[in-house]
Amino acid sequence: MKDLPTISQFQVFKNRKTILKNPLPFHRANFEKYGDIFRVRVGFRKAVVFTRNATIIKHILQKQHRKYQKSELQTVDLAKYIGHGILTSNGEHWRVHRRMVQPAFHKKKLQGLLGIMKQAIDSELKRIEPGTTQDVFPLMGDLAFQVVAQALFSRSDIQRNMKQLQDFTERNQKMLIKEMRQPYLKWWFKISGEIKKHLDLSEQGRDILNQIIEERLASRENKDDLLDMLLNATYEDGTHMPRRQLIDEVLILFTAGHETTANALGFTLFLLAKHPDIQNKVLREVENINMEVDDLMQCLSQLAYTKQCIEEALRLYPPAYVIDRTAIADDVVKGRKFPKNTLVLMSIYELHRSSAFWDSPEEFNPDRFDIALKKDYSNYYYPFGAGPRMCVGNNFAMYEMILTVAQIVKKFQISTDLRTVEVNPLISLKPVTVPLLFEQR
Ligand code: HEM
Repeated sequence: MKDLPTISQFQVFKNRKTILKNPLPFHRANFEKYGDIFRVRVGFRKAVVFTRNATIIKHILQKQHRKYQKSELQTVDLAKYIGHGILTSNGEHWRVHRRMVQPAFHKKKLQGLLGIMKQAIDSELKRIEPGTTQDVFPLMGDLAFQVVAQALFSRSDIQRNMKQLQDFTERNQKMLIKEMRQPYLKWWFKISGEIKKHLDLSEQGRDILNQIIEERLASRENKDDLLDMLLNATYEDGTHMPRRQLIDEVLILFTAGHETTANALGFTLFLLAKHPDIQNKVLREVENINMEVDDLMQCLSQLAYTKQCIEEALRLYPPAYVIDRTAIADDVVKGRKFPKNTLVLMSIYELHRSSAFWDSPEEFNPDRFDIALKKDYSNYYYPFGAGPRMCVGNNFAMYEMILTVAQIVKKFQISTDLRTVEVNPLISLKPVTVPLLFEQR
């Protein structure tokens, strides 16, 4: 490690304002200067390795994934607010629960949820007044939250509770960002009671979820939604998840599933608004489909170009723009020693924009995902991660995004005066403000 180019703490301190606002240009400048891998000092004896090298990323996520685990950024810092569900745990605890959660997201199961998903999308889209300009992110934030809520609970009478839960989740995410970006103020956040206030919000969120679970159990109804699947999942000895674990898994689905999808939808709609020719191509595809009567799985398979637009937006703006891992054993990657406890941040954002792999990488070109081209991007395209920790909700997210984009483009012509989209890399990569004009078709 010692011969790696190293960014000193002084350089970090000097650039702290820029880093606090948006660390991506700082990462880019360092990659340009030092190559695909460098270190950043974050304490006297501590350093973080940054990489955008495709071989190293594949090695860590897939080939030698057993030598790495999620870092404390997720298993401690994030977990204190959302608990120890599959996103935030490691080892045996993760393995056992991933095995229980995963079947709920199999394509067959999701097929049964498409109707609920579409209803939630329709009812959120009704809130868009034709002829108005609206900031797309809050709109998609509400939509994505409602879709997860409906897929979990299939209830429309809990809107107020869900709004509260959304508010708690979003406030806690903001707090976590503050803690991560200003680690030197951690002591203050603690003694000022700010952290405690946010932990209380988490508990209130848990109470809301507990009540909904109680009501489901009391009703004895079988709704075949995500909650039922989690309630019915069993450990190898045939027992069910303890209530606290069940609530943590539900909280995780909200947290992992709503902001990422909202961000991706925000970026996709911005890109379509900026490229009317591409938007028209989506429209031509969508016009041939009647989601009110046709089988939704069938519709999804016919929306190939719409899907390509989303895949391309995920390339340019991957919501999970960095993926973190810590080495739990000494390892050697590309001839370089990665000692135990090395914290590695893998820049998916940079990998997705590398000219070594992509022609005109900064250009929005959905055609590159045309399956007729038979291109295999699997070694350098990771919007949903890779290996055993790959996103459990990737199909759910893709179905939701295709249905949403198709419905919006069918109903509205979207445009924007914004020249470029400003990004806000928080826990996930988020568009700052994207005012879109929605004109009725
Ligand atoms: C565009 C939308 C989404 C993106 C880009 C995305 C991306 C990702 C990525 C990159 C990971 C792996 C992180 C890592 O390896 O450290 C992940 C994990 C996860 N995602 Fe997603 N996700 C999305 C939507 C969803 C949805 C809709 C759900 C559920 C409803 C979901 C649930 C999860 C969970 C539970 C994990 C943890 C899996 C594990 O560690 O076993 N995600 N996601």
